[in-house]
Amino acid sequence: MFQFKLKFSSLAIALLVLDVAAKIYNDPTPKQRKFNRRQLPANATDVKTITSPTGVKIRYKEPGKAGVCETTPGVNSYAGYIDLAEDKHSFFWFFESRSNPSTDPITLWLNGGPGSDSMIGLFQELGPCNVTEELESMLNPYSWNSVSNLLFLSQPFGVGFSYMTEIEGSITTDWEAVIVNSTFGNVTGRWPMIDPTYIETTDEAAAAAWHVLQGFYSALPQLDSDISSKEFNLWTESYGGHYGPAFFNHFYEQNELVANGSQPGIQLNMNSLGIINGIIDEYIQVPYYPEQAVNNTYGIKAYNDTVYDFARFAAYMPDYGCLAQIQYCRQNNHTTIADFAVCSEAAAICRDMVESAYYVFGGRGVYDIRHPYDDPTPPSYFEDYLNMPEVQNALGVNLNYSASNDWVYWAFQQTGDFIYDSFIADLEMLLDQGVRVGLFYGDADYICNWFGGQAISENINYTHQAEFNAAGYEPFTVDGVEYGEVRQYGNFSFARIYEAGHEVPYYQPIAALAFFNRTINNMDIATGEIPVGANFSSSGGPNATHIESFVPLPTSTTS
Ligand SMILES: *[C@@H]1O[C@H](CO)[C@@H](O)[C@H](O)[C@H]1NC(C)=O
Ligand SMILES: *[C@@H]1O[C@H](CO)[C@@H](O)[C@H](O)[C@H]1NC(C)=O
Ligand SMILES: *[C@@H]1O[C@H](CO)[C@@H](O)[C@H](O)[C@H]1NC(C)=O
Ligand SMILES: *[C@@H]1O[C@H](CO)[C@@H](O)[C@H](O)[C@H]1NC(C)=O
Ligand SMILES: *[C@@H]1O[C@H](CO)[C@@H](O)[C@H](O)[C@H]1NC(C)=O
Ligand SMILES: *[C@@H]1O[C@H](CO)[C@@H](O)[C@H](O)[C@H]1NC(C)=O
Ligand SMILES: *[C@@H]1O[C@H](CO)[C@@H](O)[C@H](O)[C@H]1NC(C)=O
Ligand SMILES: *[C@@H]1O[C@H](CO)[C@@H](O)[C@H](O)[C@H]1NC(C)=O
Ligand SMILES: *[C@@H]1O[C@H](CO)[C@@H](O)[C@H](O)[C@H]1NC(C)=O
Ligand SMILES: *[C@@H]1O[C@H](CO)[C@@H](O)[C@H](O)[C@H]1NC(C)=O
Ligand SMILES: *[C@@H]1O[C@H](CO)[C@@H](O)[C@H](O)[C@H]1NC(C)=O
Ligand SMILES: *[C@@H]1O[C@H](CO)[C@@H](O)[C@H](O)[C@H]1NC(C)=O
Repeated sequence: MFQFKLKFSSLAIALLVLDVAAKIYNDPTPKQRKFNRRQLPANATDVKTITSPTGVKIRYKEPGKAGVCETTPGVNSYAGYIDLAEDKHSFFWFFESRSNPSTDPITLWLNGGPGSDSMIGLFQELGPCNVTEELESMLNPYSWNSVSNLLFLSQPFGVGFSYMTEIEGSITTDWEAVIVNSTFGNVTGRWPMIDPTYIETTDEAAAAAWHVLQGFYSALPQLDSDISSKEFNLWTESYGGHYGPAFFNHFYEQNELVANGSQPGIQLNMNSLGIINGIIDEYIQVPYYPEQAVNNTYGIKAYNDTVYDFARFAAYMPDYGCLAQIQYCRQNNHTTIADFAVCSEAAAICRDMVESAYYVFGGRGVYDIRHPYDDPTPPSYFEDYLNMPEVQNALGVNLNYSASNDWVYWAFQQTGDFIYDSFIADLEMLLDQGVRVGLFYGDADYICNWFGGQAISENINYTHQAEFNAAGYEPFTVDGVEYGEVRQYGNFSFARIYEAGHEVPYYQPIAALAFFNRTINNMDIATGEIPVGANFSSSGGPNATHIESFVPLPTSTTS
C-alpha cells in the first residue's frame, strides 16, 4: 500500500513505501538530524500588524529587505499571516510585479496535494527565486512576477506555515506521516496542528480561500498602497485541477452576491484560470495511465503487455472496476458516511489497481517518465532553507516547515474528493461566462499526463466545444523556439509542452512564462502576437504529433 500526493512530499513518499522493494523506493531526501529543544523556532521579531476595516488582522514582515528571495531593487515583498480567527491563520507571501505593480494584475498561485504547499511553486517553479545547495536564495529571471503581482497562499490551514494551533512535536515516520505532539514522538520542532475534519473537500477549501482572499484584499491598501488593479488570475497545478475550477467558480458566485449587494465584500475581476498538469476529472483521465506508461511520445515502454492488460482490466472491469466504482460514487450526494466510504473506496481502487501498476513495475519517475523512480529533480533545498532560524524570522513565522501536511491528504482521502465530478462543470460555467481558461501539460509527466489533459479539453461541454475541438494544433513558439503544440479557440486553450515533467515551469521556464503572459494579456498562445477575439482559432492538424527521443534509465547506482 502506498499513495502519492499530487505533488511532492519528499519525506512522506519515502516513508510510505517501507513495505515494498527498497531498491526502487529509496528516496534520498530525508536527512536525519539531531534536535534539542533550543532549536524550536523563536518568535519573529519586529513583526508589523495591520487591522483591516473589516477587522481582519495581518501580521507581516518584508523578507526581501532581509535578503530572502525577491531582492530586485524596488520590488517589494510581504510575508506573514492573515488572521481570520483565533484558530485560523493563513500564511501568505506577496510579491510586487517587477514591471508595473500599480497596474499589473494580481495572480494567486496554489499548489495541490491535497496538503502540498504553494512554496513548492514559489521556489521550484515560477516564483522570484529558488534555493541553491548552499541554502542561498537566487533570483529567477523567468519568475511570473516579471508580468504580474504574485500572491502565494498556503492552504488549507495546516499546510506549510498556515495553522489552526501550534504544537511542539514531530512528523511520524510510519506511512501515515502525520504531525503529532510530544506524547507520541520526540520533539523535532514546532508544527501546525489542525482539526483535519474542518476542511476535507475542495468545496470547503474554496469557501475558506474566499474568506482568506477577502481578508487580504481588505488590508491591501494599508499593506501596499501601490497596488490598484482588481484584475485577478488564479493559476494552479496538479490537485489544483480540482482547486482551480471549484475556487474560481465559488469566487465567481461570491462576486455576484457582492455585486448585487446581497453580501459585503470586495469584487475581483475574474480574468484567467490556468491549470498545469491538473487532475480535473478522474473518470476521463484514469484510462490514460496505462497509455502514458507504454504509448507515450518518448517511445518508453515502462511495463509489459501483461501489466498493461491488467491495468486496463482493473479500469474497465464491470461493477468492481475503477470506472464503475467512480460511477457509484457519482450517484451519491457526498454527504453521509456511506457516501464518503463509497467514494473513498473507488478512489483507492483507481489509484492502487490502475495508476499504481506503473509505480510497482515501471521503475520510472512519478512526475517525469524520463527519470528514474528515485528522481533528483526538482531539487528541494528550499525545505531546509525554510527551516533556518533567520529565514523563519524574515518571514514572520515561528513554525517549522514541511512541504506537505498529510493530515490534509488523509482528510480529503476519506471523503473521496479525488473522484468527484463537479470540476468539469465548473470549467463549463467559467468558459461560458467568458473567463479565460488555459490548460498546459508537460508531456513527460505520468501522474497527471497530457493525454488525460487533452481528453479533458475535448470533453468540456460548453457553448464552443465543437469549435474548440475543430481548431488545429499549432506550434507554440517563443523567440523562434518551438516548446509545444497548442489548440485554442477564443478564451480556451490546451497546450502540450515538450520535454517537461509535472512541474512545467521548472523544466521549461521560458515556455511557462510565455504561456502565462500570453493568457493573462489575451494574446494568442501560439505566437503571442495576435490579440484574441471571441472567434479566434488556432490552425493546424487535428493531433499533437511531435515525437521525442527515447530516454534510457541511468544504469543502477547505489545511493
Ligand atoms: C525547526 O526550526 C529550527 C530553527 O528555528 C531548526 O533548528 C530545526 O532544525 C527545525 N526542525 C526541523 C525538523 O527541521
Ligand atoms: C511567542 O508568541 C506566542 C504568541 O504567538 C506567545 O504566546 C509566547 O509567549 C511567545 N513566546 C515568547 C518566548 O515570547
Ligand atoms: C536556480 O535558478 C537558477 C537561475 O534560473 C538556475 O541556474 C539554477 O540551476 C537553479 N538552482 C536550483 C537548485 O534549482
Ligand atoms: C497530545 O495529544 C493528545 C490527544 O491527541 C493529548 O491527550 C495529550 O495531552 C497531548 N500531549 C501534549 C503534551 O500536549
Ligand atoms: C525518543 O528518542 C529516544 C532517544 O533517541 C528514543 O529512545 C525514543 O524511542 C524516542 N521516542 C519516541 C516516541 O520516538
Ligand atoms: C444576487 O445574485 C444572486 C446570484 O446571482 C441571486 O441568487 C440573488 O437572488 C441576487 N440577489 C438580489 C438581491 O438581486
Ligand atoms: C498501446 O500499447 C498497447 C500495449 O503495448 C497496445 O496493445 C496498443 O495497441 C497501443 N495503443 C496505441 C494507440 O498505440
Ligand atoms: C510482465 O511483467 C511482470 C511484472 O514484472 C512479470 O511478472 C511478467 O512475467 C511479465 N510478463 C511477460 C510476458 O514478460
Ligand atoms: C440526495 O439528496 C437529495 C436531497 O436531500 C435526496 O432527495 C436524494 O434522495 C439523495 N440522493 C441519494 C442518492 O442519496
Ligand atoms: C451538453 O450540454 C447540453 C446543454 O446543457 C446538454 O443538452 C447535453 O446533454 C450535454 N452533453 C453531454 C454529453 O453531457
Ligand atoms: C508579456 O506580454 C506583453 C503583451 O503581449 C508583452 O508586451 C511583453 O513583452 C511580455 N513580457 C514578457 C516578459 O514576455
Ligand atoms: C487524432 O485526432 C482525432 C480527433 O481528435 C482522433 O479521433 C484520432 O484518434 C487522433 N489520432 C491519433 C493517431 O491520435
